[in-house]
Amino acid sequence: MRNNRFSNLTLVGLLLGFALLGTGCATQDSNGQGESTRESYVPDPMPTDPNSPQALTDRRCSMCHSLDRVYEADLDRAGWQEVIERMQSNGLVVTEEEFRVILDFLSER
Ligand code: HEC
Repeated sequence: MRNNRFSNLTLVGLLLGFALLGTGCATQDSNGQGESTRESYVPDPMPTDPNSPQALTDRRCSMCHSLDRVYEADLDRAGWQEVIERMQSNGLVVTEEEFRVILDFLSER
């Protein structure tokens, strides 16, 4: 991610340079690049597949409290089901599919 952001910056710098050379005072419209990296939050320094169950869990479960809270808890499947349902009443938004993936991941961990 860090590399990504850096190269995006470099790219913006290059584009800006060309724009200045070419058109003088054209206003630079941000063209939406990098919107896919902007919201991704990667608490885990290990390179994890962004679509892995862990990455999904980390994304969904780190919005309101730290992931320590999640990973310190050692529950069985029924316990996790209850917790995730309670998180939904706390405001967690997951699809049914994501619910199942997260439940599988947390109870098999
Ligand atoms: C919308 C905010 C929000 C999201 C998203 C959220 N939580 Fe929570 N979580 C809370 C709040 C608030 C508490 C403390 C109150 C409570 O226990 O219900 C909490 C507490 C917890 C606890 C401690 C509960 C206990 O019994 O000690 C665990 C474990 C937990 N969350 C797991 C998760 C998991 C797993 C996810 C992702 C599926 C998640 N949370 C996503 C708001 C959230």
